Parts: sequence; structure tokens; C-alpha cells
Amino acid sequence: MKETTRNPILVALDVPDAVAAWKLASELAPVVGGFKIGAELFTSAGPDIVPRIRALERPVFLDLKFHDIPNTVARSVAAATRLGAQMLTIHTSGGLAMMRAAEESARRAAPTAPPLVLGVTVLTSMDSRALAETGAGENVARQVERLAQLALRAGLRGLVCSPLEITALRQILPVEIQLVTPGIRTGQESSDDQSRTLSPRQALAAGANWLVIGRPICAAPQPRAAAEQILASLH
Ligand code: C5P
Repeated sequence: MKETTRNPILVALDVPDAVAAWKLASELAPVVGGFKIGAELFTSAGPDIVPRIRALERPVFLDLKFHDIPNTVARSVAAATRLGAQMLTIHTSGGLAMMRAAEESARRAAPTAPPLVLGVTVLTSMDSRALAETGAGENVARQVERLAQLALRAGLRGLVCSPLEITALRQILPVEIQLVTPGIRTGQESSDDQSRTLSPRQALAAGANWLVIGRPICAAPQPRAAAEQILASLH
């Protein structure tokens, strides 16, 4: 699908088990661009959940945020690639060698197109005080930029970032780098625990390529109608 017509909505399947995930995903598959499987669902349902959701013919984003020695991350990325994940996450704070190993492993393990290895910079749950406690200084924006540059040097082709980081990152990143953004709210629902949000349309206008949306769709009384409304709001 062309970049301009691609459906950018990745639904976060933040549900406790495979039955709930399948019910939600099969209802939403016709109207969304892909599904995100996080640590909760992966751990409770097991790796089989990836090919099961893939059978709906939508990309699967496996959000397990690998962070370990390069060899272990490379082997985990290869395993995720063999499972059929088309996008996956690693922590950029794992360093240059770890990120290079992840990207090389994705390319080696993929029979055709390698999965998009996305770097997570500073978790959006961390404020300047929490960051300083880790020894990384207290300037969150500077640390995000530093880690983004490191990810580029390592050859990553995409990053996860908060809505409010998109504009700054777009200024320093090549246009082909994919930005995946959670923290999306339409304005009609509560912001839940997300404190820095943008609407789907604003996030795309700022330069996001993919929107990770969980509760605004999954916790809506009619998830499919909510997804359709969001999709319509993009055009
Ligand atoms: O329900 P909501 O739309 O807030 O879900 C957002 C999803 O994106 C969740 O799966 C959450 O874990 C994930 N996420 C996030 N912020 C990040 C990285 C991932 O909200 N910085």
C-alpha cells in the first residue's frame, strides 16, 4: 500500500489473554492497519499469539522492548522475526553494539522484508527527576535526541516516540525514519494515564508514520465504530 493511503492505526491489544485478543482483533481487522502485542498478552498467551493474529492479514508489532547483551538481543530478534512480527522494539539505552546486533539479526533472519526494528528512547513515564536518578542527566529532550542519534548510527529504521517529541525528532532525523507514536487521544475520552497526548490527525501532521492506539478503541462501547471514527478523522 502506498504511504499516503496506508492505514496508520496500530491497535494495542492490551488484554489479558488470547481469547479476548482474538475477539477484539477479528472485529477490528477490517478497519485498522495492524496490531500491537505487548508483554502482558505475549506472556499470558504465549508466542503462538503472534501467528494467530497474523492470520488476520494485518501486520503485528511485537512490543517486548528487548534490552540485554547484544548476542541475546540478536537471538531474541531472530526468534521474533521467525514468529512473523513485522515490527518490534528494543531499548536504545542498550547501546550501539546491541542496536547494531538487533538490526543485523532482523535482516539475516527475515526470508524477505526484514521487520522494522524500533528503538525506544526515554520511557514516557519518566520525568526529569526519574531520568536524573538513573544517571542520565535531567534533560529528557536532550537524552531522547542523544539516543535517537545513536539509533541512527546503529542503522535502525524507526523509533517509538511520544507525541510531543515528534516535531523535534523530525528536525534531526532523515525523512525515511519511521516514527511510531503512542499517547494518542481523540479528545472524546479520558486521557487515562497518558499526560502528553495529541489527536490522531495532529500526530500525523507532526510527522508520525504510525499511531499506537489502545484504550480509545478497545475500551470504547463499540470498538469497531471507534476505530472507524478515528480513521475518518484522518482524512
Ligand atoms: O491505551 P493507550 O492508547 O494509552 O495505549 C498505548 C499503548 O502504547 C500501550 O500499549 C502502552 O503500553 C504503549 N506505550 C505507551 N507509551 C510509550 C510506549 C508504549 O503508551 N512510551
